[in-house]
Amino acid sequence: MDILTLIKTRRSIRKFKKKSIQKETIENILEAARWAPSGLNNQPWRFIVLDGGLKDKIAEYTKYSYIIKSADKIILVFLDKTSSYHYEKDLLAIGACIQNMLLYIHAIGLGACWLGEILNRRDEIKKFLGLEENLELQAVLAIGKPAIFPKKATRKKLEELIINDYAKL
Ligand SMILES: Cc1cc2nc3c(=O)[nH]c(=O)nc-3n(C[C@H](O)[C@H](O)[C@H](O)COP(=O)(O)O)c2cc1C
Repeated sequence: MDILTLIKTRRSIRKFKKKSIQKETIENILEAARWAPSGLNNQPWRFIVLDGGLKDKIAEYTKYSYIIKSADKIILVFLDKTSSYHYEKDLLAIGACIQNMLLYIHAIGLGACWLGEILNRRDEIKKFLGLEENLELQAVLAIGKPAIFPKKATRKKLEELIINDYAKL
């Protein structure tokens, strides 16, 4: 699959088959994350991988618990504030790191959903996991073998997105 097709066919997966993901696969997903760009190459991202009972405990902190419960594993993505040099740029870098993972996951026939609503309770999650103060939760990725793959997806037209008149040239 060419890269543009890969990007365009990736969908958020919210229902997964009961199939476990190998440790090696998770390592490759994190490898995709590790090679994302970051300002000054500061690589401010940190990860926690959970499955089983602990994963399901994290599900209690979001109204999208059904997605986490259905997933085989979750990856919690944190900003390490001790590595931060510019908060906004660090968040952008973490977004790039997450997209790297989503695309790799899709490329190998697995699926994922980027969960953001859960951040409403990020402090409680940090307390529950007993994490250091410098780690700020930025996203949770629910990962597994897709059970339902949504075909339909919509995006704004390019003309709505380009601010200058480049599209008319
Ligand atoms: C920052 C961010 C937060 C998101 N949070 C949630 C979420 O909490 N729950 C959910 O079901 N999907 C969430 N999504 C997935 C979006 O709903 C999804 O990407 C969007 O509807 C486009 O669909 P697609 O990913 O299938 O192309 C989030 C996506 C992003 C980028």
